[in-house]
Amino acid sequence: MSDALPSSARPASVVLSGITHRYARLTAVDDVSLSVAPKEVVCIVGPSGCGKSTLLRLISGLETVQKGEIAVDGLTLATAGRSLPPERRPVGMMFQDFALFPHLTVAGNVAFGQSDRPRAERRRRVDELLETMALTRYADAYPHTLSGGQQQRVALARAMARDPKVLLLDEPFSALDEQLRRSVREEVVRIIRASGIATIVVTHDPEEAMEMGNRVVVMEAGRIVQADTPVTLYRRPANSFVARLFGEVNRFEATVRDGQIVTPLGRIMAPGFPGGTKVEVACRVEDLELVPPGARPDAVPVRVRHSSFLGPATRVCLDLPGGGSEIHARLPGHVDVRPGEELSAAMAAERMMVFPVE
Ligand SMILES: Nc1ncnc2c1ncn2[C@@H]1O[C@H](COP(=O)(O)OP(=O)(O)O)[C@@H](O)[C@H]1O
Ligand SMILES: [Mg+2]
Repeated sequence: MSDALPSSARPASVVLSGITHRYARLTAVDDVSLSVAPKEVVCIVGPSGCGKSTLLRLISGLETVQKGEIAVDGLTLATAGRSLPPERRPVGMMFQDFALFPHLTVAGNVAFGQSDRPRAERRRRVDELLETMALTRYADAYPHTLSGGQQQRVALARAMARDPKVLLLDEPFSALDEQLRRSVREEVVRIIRASGIATIVVTHDPEEAMEMGNRVVVMEAGRIVQADTPVTLYRRPANSFVARLFGEVNRFEATVRDGQIVTPLGRIMAPGFPGGTKVEVACRVEDLELVPPGARPDAVPVRVRHSSFLGPATRVCLDLPGGGSEIHARLPGHVDVRPGEELSAAMAAERMMVFPVE
């Protein structure tokens, strides 16, 4: 799998080098460099306003590059002062609201943008795409008569119609309701992977990013904080922000002494941290193990404050000895714990994440 190779060894479809973009005094994108390999699906995830859409708009040509360079398949699309117009870029873009033309049929929507092709070829490509998307019987229908999932596939077909070298999807599923989103997402991923087109998907939903991406790029305030496989992001996040983005964590502040850190959940080794370093220790709520009192020597006594049944999981709020601080655990939904119950909490040292505090 291409994930196993360092990025420098991979041939690249899309290369962004040192992209910085300002709107007046606001730096929306700050020195971003990123390569996407052929066939790769990269998800960019981050909170609202961190610069995700701006990055896609720069690649598609809807925004003018101020600093840095964008290349696709070895062809420079844009640098400061030099830029291919959007319609000449080998880029297909799909927006959050689908942006279908209401006065054109499904076939008309997909054919739009291929006007530079001979009529017969255009026709053939439209038929082919409609078939891939299971939309053949809707060719003459108008967008408003279709379901959200069908409209989504029309938008994807239109983005793919010009055989782009790269597909850009900006929050592609946020207009769909929760239930539909899952099935449409699976369908879209299947189509994209089968097409082999390098794809960048922007989302603010970390779970969606992990499900769709071979690689996930985390952005914060215009910068890339970490780019890795979903497992690495989850287990070895670069900082506390990334750790918290992908799931609930318990956090403790501590100071390194003699190569060790004392946390309310036990003592852990801190190799590589000089004595006196202030650190944040974080552990995932589902990694906290609850056992009967005294069942394990490494466990600390806790008392259940309250628990909430969430269906697949039960979220438990626990008081640590000495009062004051509380921690959370996430247990399988069928586990029954009662307020006031005395338990022991254990945390495997290798699951603790340690970050220096700036
Ligand atoms: N056309 C614009 N003019 C001025 N500011 C903008 C414009 N577009 C986006 N911004 C600002 O740039 C930042 C990044 O926006 P955007 O790229 O849309 O973020 P995201 O897609 O991650 O939510 C935000 O603070 C946003 O308000
Ligand atoms: Mg956006």
